[in-house]
Amino acid sequence: MSESYELQLHLVGHLTENAARQAIESMHLSNGTFGMDAGCGIGNHMMLLASEVGPMGMVHGVDTCDEKLRIAKKELDDHGFSSQVELSKSDIRTLPLDDDSIDWLWCADTLWPIEDFNPDDGIREFKRVLRPAGKLGLYFWTHQNLLPGYPLLESHLNLAYTSRNPYLNQRNPDLHFLNAKKWLKVHGFQNVSIRFFHVSIETPLSEKQKRALGCCMDMLWGNLHGEITGKDWDLFQTLRSPSSESYILNDPDYHAEIYYTLFQGSASSAQ
Ligand SMILES: C[S@@+](CC[C@H](N)C(=O)[O-])C[C@H]1O[C@@H](n2cnc3c(N)ncnc32)[C@H](O)[C@@H]1O
Repeated sequence: MSESYELQLHLVGHLTENAARQAIESMHLSNGTFGMDAGCGIGNHMMLLASEVGPMGMVHGVDTCDEKLRIAKKELDDHGFSSQVELSKSDIRTLPLDDDSIDWLWCADTLWPIEDFNPDDGIREFKRVLRPAGKLGLYFWTHQNLLPGYPLLESHLNLAYTSRNPYLNQRNPDLHFLNAKKWLKVHGFQNVSIRFFHVSIETPLSEKQKRALGCCMDMLWGNLHGEITGKDWDLFQTLRSPSSESYILNDPDYHAEIYYTLFQGSASSAQ
């Protein structure tokens, strides 16, 4: 099974929506406020953000990918949010907004410290556009348990994934996204805090949940062939293949968990 990346984002967004909703609620965004979803993708969180700030509020989504922005626009229009949202193609390091112009900024699974991208450049830009006391939320998928009963296989897959991803295996630990609290402090954000959110999935699974869980496995581990032993790879294929007798998502006692971390801070009042 191989879904397009946009469809994967849609299915996984649906699977993990409750955690995102709780994380957004924990930001206590006021009704009628104006904010941004930086790296909005296909707009999964924009509807939650728009609902949170109510009909008098506004959400501006930016992303660098035309196809994701096209899908986001359609989804937002189809769900009746068109009067509450704006979308533009932009890099999060050069946002199309004036200084001190927004009340809050949400950035989910986007601020990865990869190759030529230093998270400092993103945080500096976020601080520029936030009003004094404006709220920043950086939200990251941090961990998952998707293969109950196969701890060694899951550890091997995770080790291979971590080893190949530069943002998980940085030489400078301060650049790792789990150290985002430090990023906020260095840039003078106040009231910096961390909160944890959790998605639990239990049987019976709908077909949509099965596809979404398959996407999670694909996105994380689908291209690790050659980076784990052949025996591990074959076992993984057996467990994730819907046509296999050992398809793990058909186990009537299957369950999975996904963990997220939200780093929050407020822009200092004297910038
Ligand atoms: C993993 S997706 C997350 C999308 C969305 N925030 C969500 O949680 O569903 C990361 C998104 O960031 C976008 N992106 C990556 N680098 C970016 C940059 N420098 N500026 C703006 N968007 C960027 C990608 O196009 C992609 O849509």
